Amino acid sequence: MRLLEAFRGTAIQLPNRIAMAPMTRGRADDKTGVPHPRTAEYYAQRASAGLIASEGVWVNQTGKSGPGIPGLVTERQAEAWREVTEAVHEKGGRIFVQLWYAGGSAIPA
Ligand SMILES: Cc1cc2nc3c(=O)[nH]c(=O)nc-3n(C[C@H](O)[C@H](O)[C@H](O)COP(=O)(O)O)c2cc1C
Repeated sequence: MRLLEAFRGTAIQLPNRIAMAPMTRGRADDKTGVPHPRTAEYYAQRASAGLIASEGVWVNQTGKSGPGIPGLVTERQAEAWREVTEAVHEKGGRIFVQLWYAGGSAIPA
């Protein structure tokens, strides 16, 4: 079954063709935009997918898209995401961050 076959691209190699779509969870601390403490566990549980795309993550305080959406701007946010990537890598997985700027529909942080 091709779905379970390895994907060998030029930029990325995947052990299978199953990708987890980006899905907003709305679980971050709304004041700080720091991902919820169990975010690493959540993504690590899904590390057997060929590729994980994270939930959309705002890249600028003015581009926050809604309540409980995590950011990747402050040192605390970056540290929390580092824990996520390390947990996924420890389980043999691969994860990309989905960068999100909500533009005109933003609710600034
Ligand atoms: C709860 C939920 C959250 C989602 N969050 C994101 C997101 O953060 N970024 C994104 O690009 N798509 C997001 N999506 C869209 C999904 O990644 C996916 O493309 C979509 O659910 C598939 O299409 P369908 O729902 O019409 O079957 C979300 C979907 C759901 C159901």
